Amino acid sequence: MASIRLERQRGHAAEPANDPRAGAEGEGDSPGMYPLQASRSYPREQWYVAAYRNELPAGKPLGREIFGEPVVLFRSDSGEAAALSGLCVHRFMPLAGGQVTGGKLVCPYHGYAYGADGQCVHIPTGGKPSPHAKLRHYPVIEDGPFIWIWPGTAEKAANTPLPDLRDIGLSGDGEGWRVDTAERLDLDARPALLVDNLFDLSHIAFIHLQSLPGAEGLALIPPVFDRTDVRFRVGRTLPGFVAEPDTAIARTMPLIAGRPVFVSLHTDFYSPAMINSSGPWAYELVDGNQPGAPIAKINFVHIVTPKNETATHYFNVVSRDFDLDDEDISAQLVAQTDRVRKEDAVWIAQIEKYADRLDVRKEISTKADEGALKVRRVLQALIEAEEA
Ligand code: FES
Ligand SMILES: [Fe+2]
Repeated sequence: MASIRLERQRGHAAEPANDPRAGAEGEGDSPGMYPLQASRSYPREQWYVAAYRNELPAGKPLGREIFGEPVVLFRSDSGEAAALSGLCVHRFMPLAGGQVTGGKLVCPYHGYAYGADGQCVHIPTGGKPSPHAKLRHYPVIEDGPFIWIWPGTAEKAANTPLPDLRDIGLSGDGEGWRVDTAERLDLDARPALLVDNLFDLSHIAFIHLQSLPGAEGLALIPPVFDRTDVRFRVGRTLPGFVAEPDTAIARTMPLIAGRPVFVSLHTDFYSPAMINSSGPWAYELVDGNQPGAPIAKINFVHIVTPKNETATHYFNVVSRDFDLDDEDISAQLVAQTDRVRKEDAVWIAQIEKYADRLDVRKEISTKADEGALKVRRVLQALIEAEEA
C-alpha cells in the first residue's frame, strides 16, 4: 500500500473503528474459528500459482513443493508447461534435478524419461515401460504472468475457471496494464496466517511504521464490505485525498500529486490464491466527495500458494494502468512491496512457531479485526464444503 497522509483528507472525518466493548466478546470467539484449529488445512480444490511464467524457461525443469507434495514443472516440445509429481517412479529421485531432452523430462539418476502426461516413455537399460510407470499429472493453465496448477481432484479442475482478474490486468493479454513481478518469498507460516495479515490494517502502525509512513491511520477508517460474483472486498475511501509532494505515493502516481482526488483503498479476496491490496485507485473528485472518472490504479497483488501445512509460497506482482513504460516507477513499486512483505514474513513466522498449540477460541478481537474475521469465514466455508 502506498504512503497515505490522512491529515490531508478533505471532507472526511476518520472515525475510530476499534470498539473496545468488543473486547472478550469479539467475533474471534467463535468456536473453532479458522485459522489455528488443528487438522484444518487450506482449500485444496482451487487454482493456485505454481510459478511465474518466467521461472520456467524451455529445457530446464523447476521443482516446487505444493500442499506438501513435490511437484516438477517443465516445458514439452510444444512449449506448453506441464506439472508432474516430482519423484521418479524408479527410485524416487527428485526429478527437478533432471534435464529436458527432446521435450521429455529425464531423471538424473538412471535416465528414465517422461512425457508431459507423466507416462514414462523410455528406460535406458531396455524394456518397455509399464503403463503403471506413470507420474501424477496436474492440470495446468498459463495465463497472464502465472503458471496455474490445480492440486485437487483433476475432474473438478475442468469445471472451474481461473479467478477473474481482468480488473487488475492479470487475466488474458493484460492490454493497458504494466505488470511487474516481485520476489517469491518462502514464508515460514501457514497460508491462513498470511491471509489474516493481509486483511489486517492495524499492524501497519507497528510493523510497517518505517516502510509505510503516513499510512498508520488507515485502520481507523471504518471499512465497507462488498461481495460480488468475482470477489469479497474490504474497502475504505478517502474523498479529497491529496498526495503531498515528495511522498512515495506522489512519486509512484504522479498523475495525482498535489491535487484533491477521490481514493479507494481496498483489499479484495478473489480466491484463496489471490488477494489484491489496491495501492490506491484514484478518481477525479466530483461534488466535493464523490468519485468521478478513474485517473490511475495501482495493485499490489498477493499470491498465496500452500507449500505445506506450515509454510507458504508468497508471490507478488504489482500492476498499474498508467505510465506503462516508466521503469523508475516500476522499480519503486517492486522495492516497496518487497520491503513491506519481508517485514510481514518475519513477524508472521513468529506466530507460526506456536500455532499448533494455540486455542483460537481465546483470541480477543475488536472492531478493527472485522474484515479479517469475515475473510476467515469465507475460507472456512470453502474448507467445510470440501469436507462435506
Ligand atoms: S531414480 Fe529415476 S531413473 Fe532411477
Ligand atoms: Fe503487512
